[in-house]
Amino acid sequence: MNISPFQYGKIVTGQSFVNRKREKELLIHHFQSGQNTILISPRRWGKTSLVRESARLTENKNIKFVFIDLFSIRDEQEFLTIYAREVMKAAMSKREEILKDAREWFKQLLPVMSFGIDPLSEISIKFNWEEAQKHRSEIINLPEIIAKKRGLQIVICLDEFQNISRFQDNLSIEKELRACWQHHQNASYCLFGSKRHMMFELFNQSERPFYRFGDMILLEKIETSEWIPFISESFKNSGKAISLELSEIMANQMRNHPYYIQMFCDYVWSLTEKSSSNETLIRALEDMIDHSSFLFQEDIESLSATQLNMLKAISAGETQLTSKAVMDRFKLGTPRNVLKNKEILRSKDIIDTQGNQLSFLDPLFELWLKKLLKI
Ligand SMILES: Nc1ncnc2c1ncn2[C@@H]1O[C@H](COP(=O)(O)OP(=O)(O)OP(=O)(O)O)[C@@H](O)[C@H]1O
Ligand SMILES: [Mg+2]
Repeated sequence: MNISPFQYGKIVTGQSFVNRKREKELLIHHFQSGQNTILISPRRWGKTSLVRESARLTENKNIKFVFIDLFSIRDEQEFLTIYAREVMKAAMSKREEILKDAREWFKQLLPVMSFGIDPLSEISIKFNWEEAQKHRSEIINLPEIIAKKRGLQIVICLDEFQNISRFQDNLSIEKELRACWQHHQNASYCLFGSKRHMMFELFNQSERPFYRFGDMILLEKIETSEWIPFISESFKNSGKAISLELSEIMANQMRNHPYYIQMFCDYVWSLTEKSSSNETLIRALEDMIDHSSFLFQEDIESLSATQLNMLKAISAGETQLTSKAVMDRFKLGTPRNVLKNKEILRSKDIIDTQGNQLSFLDPLFELWLKKLLKI
């Protein structure tokens, strides 16, 4: 049986990775030159995949990468422990060497380390937390110290970095990280995240320690012209066919959203025996909407009546939400309500604003809502 060539919800690299030539070149350039980078985009546009793919293309015996996802890290202690372990693993050679070298890497701290039975299995590392807090710069400076001693460059990639602002006493750790990292020459940092308002607060507010810490890249979606050949060739290589026209329609319907295009393609691919038709697309879309319905239902339950009305107005194509006619027709409340709700929907990452243009961030949610409201 053939396996679908489309993947969604996983990191995509190599063959499954579409384009992003410019962004890859820029990241690779920054990784090689030790430039710190900040990468921001809404959820599921491909940040993690881009960083992984660029790292894969850059990594060699002189440049090592460390990946840490802050998504489920709750506090500073957990973060610094994982940070130390992952940095040590990146420079890992024989375990005897690690034990010997660790004595040089740490001056004040004495971590307790243990290894699994298999030499390649996890190292575990523990600090006496009271001591570690006093000398936390020793942990934070570890990448630079190890990189210098080993004659390497280390790039630390921190995913969902905005979560650091949820740590208790976050300003203190932010200050210390920034104070240490800015002196690093052999270690550099790629910090990325999807909660845009939190990322902007961290990096764009002059009173925050990470203000303008590195080159800030706002990732965009992938253009239709890149999706068309990817879709049609992936069908062809897996023994099925789809026309260029239908491939284009799919990209447009999902508004070039990488995750949803791959999902749509996967649904269409599964329903296709030999060659996809317009009907296949319609059926696949209905299935997708049905399957996601319960999630969207939950999303709208947390919205107020005027917020929901605002979404109706946006999906009906209205742009002048504070005009009297639109406010009356869609029951949006006062102009103040409109502005407040716009901000709330934006901070919840439901809508995107570009100048006067308002759009849904989730194309499937918009299609579902339109179907529900019969727009
Ligand atoms: N360059 C790409 N080529 C093809 N598909 C892509 C690409 N980038 C992302 N995708 C699609 O989008 C999905 C999500 O990608 P990824 O996890 O990298 O995004 P993310 O921005 O890190 O998401 P999250 O905010 O949820 O962490 C992938 O599983 C894949 O289906
Ligand atoms: Mg990600």
